[in-house]
Amino acid sequence: MFSVKQDFNYSAEHECLIVGVFDKPNKFEGILTRVDEQFGGQLTELVKSGDISVKKKAIAKIHTFGKIGAKRLIAVGLGKEKEYSFEILREALGRAFKEVKTSRIQEAAVCLDAFTSEGVDALDAAHAVSEAFVLATYEFEGYKQKSNEPEKDIESIAVYSSADKEDVKASLTVGYAHGKGTNSARTLVNLPGNMLTATDMANYASELAWRYDFEVEILEKEDMLKLGMGALLAVNQGSAEPPKMIVLKYQGKEEWKDVIGLVGKGITFDTGGYSIKPKDGIVGMKTDMGGAAAVLGAMEIIGELKPEQNVVAVIPSTDNMVSGTAFKPDDVITSMSGKTIEVLNADAEGRLALADAVTYAKHHGADYLVDVATLTGGVIVALGEETTGALANNEEWFEQVLEASYEAGEPIWRLPLFEKDKERIRSSQIADLNNSPGRAGHAIMGGGFVGEFAEDTPWVHLDIAGTATATKNYDLGPAGATGVMVRTLALLVERFQSK
Ligand code: BES
Ligand code: ZN
Ligand code: ZN
Repeated sequence: MFSVKQDFNYSAEHECLIVGVFDKPNKFEGILTRVDEQFGGQLTELVKSGDISVKKKAIAKIHTFGKIGAKRLIAVGLGKEKEYSFEILREALGRAFKEVKTSRIQEAAVCLDAFTSEGVDALDAAHAVSEAFVLATYEFEGYKQKSNEPEKDIESIAVYSSADKEDVKASLTVGYAHGKGTNSARTLVNLPGNMLTATDMANYASELAWRYDFEVEILEKEDMLKLGMGALLAVNQGSAEPPKMIVLKYQGKEEWKDVIGLVGKGITFDTGGYSIKPKDGIVGMKTDMGGAAAVLGAMEIIGELKPEQNVVAVIPSTDNMVSGTAFKPDDVITSMSGKTIEVLNADAEGRLALADAVTYAKHHGADYLVDVATLTGGVIVALGEETTGALANNEEWFEQVLEASYEAGEPIWRLPLFEKDKERIRSSQIADLNNSPGRAGHAIMGGGFVGEFAEDTPWVHLDIAGTATATKNYDLGPAGATGVMVRTLALLVERFQSK
C-alpha cells in the first residue's frame, strides 16, 4: 500500500500529488521546493494568486499537464503555522484523501515535507497520512443491490520524505493499524441487530484471537449461571438469542501483572425491555454495542502492534428484548459480585451487563479498568455529540486516559461522582443498589453504578452514547458509526505506565 521515497522527479508519473500549504510568505521546504522548481515556480504563483488557498483545510485540485512527476496536484491549506497541530494535519489529510477518492483516482503520492512544522515532525506526519487515509476513505458497504460497478479503492500511496526511510515506514504502519482497527469497529456498529447477534460478536472475537494469538474464552449461559452472573442473565432473560461473555487476553509481558482491563458494553439491540423505548427512540439501537466494538477495535491494533503490556478485554453481549420471560421493573437480581440490584428500569440494562463484566475482568486479574459504553442519553444532554463523558475513581489513571484521548483526537470530559451521587445509587428499600435513581444527572448515575463494581480498582468510565455515531459526514469519516475510543484505548495501552 505505502512506499517511501526520498527524491521527487519528473519520471515519478503519479496520478496525483498531495501537498500542504501554510499561510506564510511563499516559503517552501524540503521536497516541496523541488516540486515548485519542476513546476517552474507555478506553485508559488498559484498560492500568491489565491487559486491554491492556504486557509485551513481548503482543497484545490490543479492539473499539471505533465509538467511535474504527477498529473494533478491536490493542495490542502494548513492555515497559520503558529496555530498548526497534529489534529489539523490529520483532518486536512482526511479531506485531501476524500478528494482523491471522489475523483476516482487510484494512486496517490504525498509530499510529507509539506506537512511538517516545529511541533509536528515527519514521523507524526507519516502516522497522520496512513491513519487519515484509512479513516477518511472508509465506507460501509450495506446491503443494496448495486447496479453499477463497485467503486475501485485507492491502491497505492507513495510518501516523499527527507526523513529516515525506515522510521517513516514504521510510523506509517502504526497509523495504518490505528485506522484499520477503528474501521473494524465502525463496521461492527453499522451492522444491524439481526446481522450481529451476541453469537456473531463472539465468533468475531474468536477470529481476532485466532489471527493474533490471543487467549479467548466465551462464557455460555450455563457458565454464567454457575458463576452467578445474575445481572447479565437478567438482561438476556427475554431474548431468543443466547448471551455471551467474551474474554480476550493479550500477554505482552513475562508475567501476568499490571493488567489493563478493557470492558465494552455489547448490547446488540436495545428495545428498552419492559421499560420499552418510544418508536423514535428505538431506531438506531443497533449501535448499543459501540463500547464492545471500541474494545475489539483496540484489540485488533494491539494484536498488530504487540506492545509490551498485558490486556484483558471483557465484553458482555446480549440484546435487550421483551417477552413473557423478560426481566421486569421491580425485579431484584443478584450480580456476580454478590451485590443485589433492584431493577427500576429495564432500559438501564447496560450498567447491569457491565456490572458482571467488570467483576469478571477483576477475576481475570485486571489491575486497571476502563469501561466503554453507549450508556445514557443523559450524556448527550450534558456534553453533546462531540465529547465523550467520563467518570473516574483514580486521578492518575484518569490522567493516562485523558492523555491518550488527546493524542487520538477524541475529546473526553470528566463529570463529577460525589458521595451524595453514590448514595442515590445505593438507595433501595430492598436491595444493595438500584439501577435507575431518576433522571437528574443520569449519565453520572449510570456510570456511577458501574463504578460500584470496580470498587477500589482504578477505573475510568467512558460514556459514548453521543459520540459513537455521527449524523453527518466529517473529515475523517462518513455519517454513521465513528469507531470512537478505539484509538484512545489502543494509545492508552501503548503508552501505559504502571505506578
Ligand atoms: N442504550 C441506551 C443509551 C443510549 C441513548 C445510547 C441514546 C445511544 C443513544 C441505554 O441503555 C438507555 O436506554 N439509557 C437510558 C437510561 C435511563 C433509563 C436511566 C437513557 O439514557 O434514557
Ligand atoms: Zn437501555
Ligand atoms: Zn442500552
